[in-house]
Amino acid sequence: MAVDFKAGLEDVVAANSAICDVDGKAGRLRYRGYDIGDLAERASYEEVTYLLWFGELPGRDTLQQFSRSLAGQREAPPPVLDAMQRFPHTAHPLEALRSAVSLHAMYDPDVHDNGREANLRKSARLTAQMATLVAAWRRIREGKSPVVPDPALSHAADFLYMMTGQPPDPVSAEAMDAVLVLHAEHELNASTFVARVAVATVSDLHSAVVAALGTLKGPRHGGANEDVLAMIEEIGPPERAEPYIRARLEARARMSQADRADPRNRIPGWGHRVYKVDDPRAARLRAIGRRLAERAGVLPLFETAETVYRVMKAETDLPVNVDFYSAVIYRALGIPIDLCTSIFAVARIAGWCAHMMEQYGDNRLIRPRAHYTGVEPRPFVPLEARP
Ligand SMILES: CC(C)(COP(=O)(O)OP(=O)(O)OC[C@H]1O[C@@H](n2cnc3c(N)ncnc32)[C@H](O)[C@@H]1OP(=O)(O)O)[C@@H](O)C(=O)NCCC(=O)NCCS
Repeated sequence: MAVDFKAGLEDVVAANSAICDVDGKAGRLRYRGYDIGDLAERASYEEVTYLLWFGELPGRDTLQQFSRSLAGQREAPPPVLDAMQRFPHTAHPLEALRSAVSLHAMYDPDVHDNGREANLRKSARLTAQMATLVAAWRRIREGKSPVVPDPALSHAADFLYMMTGQPPDPVSAEAMDAVLVLHAEHELNASTFVARVAVATVSDLHSAVVAALGTLKGPRHGGANEDVLAMIEEIGPPERAEPYIRARLEARARMSQADRADPRNRIPGWGHRVYKVDDPRAARLRAIGRRLAERAGVLPLFETAETVYRVMKAETDLPVNVDFYSAVIYRALGIPIDLCTSIFAVARIAGWCAHMMEQYGDNRLIRPRAHYTGVEPRPFVPLEARP
């Protein structure tokens, strides 16, 4: 077999897709042809979800209908919420979410129907309820009751409301909406690829989302935003950021390649497989982060992040990625550190569903090959003859 192997499938094209275009050299990101900056500033998460699933921005009436339909489906099945009450309170929020989505499948009337209409219905339920499940877990583990969703609120505002029990102020709701739009989709990232591989076997949407959640969890993917906040808190005041980053970079320079590859020895929120320049989402998140940090009285946290940014730019040629400033936003919104990756999932479910439906629409089993590097063929050795 001819060997044309790229470690980590770097730059390998593995699907045709009309959903999202990432230009890593120019630092551009478009959903269905629309620039991410325009969408984050001018479109709601509901609008963007419609765009991702149906290919066009909805008109006024269609958007109203679509938003109402999503809002009307936000209540999670009671047996799933009951089961969550019995999860150990020490469970990481993403583990609780992964298990809740797996249970959710058993209460979904369309679980075994993989037709386009059934997949749209399941996508709507999953997208509407992901936020409900994440918010419910935050409350359950604190010994509080889940808050019943309020269909009069936008998806982003209701998510904040279900977490705290207080209707959010407009600035916080608007910030959360932009965060959800910015995280809704990103081409063949690891979790989306896994979701497409799962449905390509003609498995069901829920199983694929469980696989995607498990993939999102890792520190090289969605888990990085939690590490960013941990790092910024470890640094403390802004004046400590420069010596901290310099010391970490210097320590890295003395490490072996294997040690440098360990996520604990990398600077979270930096580096990207596709972007060679700063991730365009980071600029938006930076602006939102500054505004929210000022309002919440945690400006030093933002300034620490800014100093890290400045030092990393001076000392490395790595691009900043989406996880760097999102961590500051979640802290300014009073969201616990370990919920960061679950919020990523609340947003990304829209993109996962778009990709899964696209895969079902033109499906072929995804089954690559491995280049065999093991021992040459050899005769079997009976047990009694082995040393
Ligand atoms: C995102 C990521 C996994 C991409 O990995 P990748 O495309 O396989 O890139 P590589 O691991 O081949 O890295 C290329 C070089 O850049 C360096 N590099 C990449 N990201 C780095 C980081 N965050 N901090 C320090 N150095 C980094 C690597 O060490 C490597 O150089 P080396 O071989 O001299 O050690 C990687 O950049 C990373 O681990 N980032 C931190 C975690 C993160 O923020 N993830 C969220 C992504 S949206």
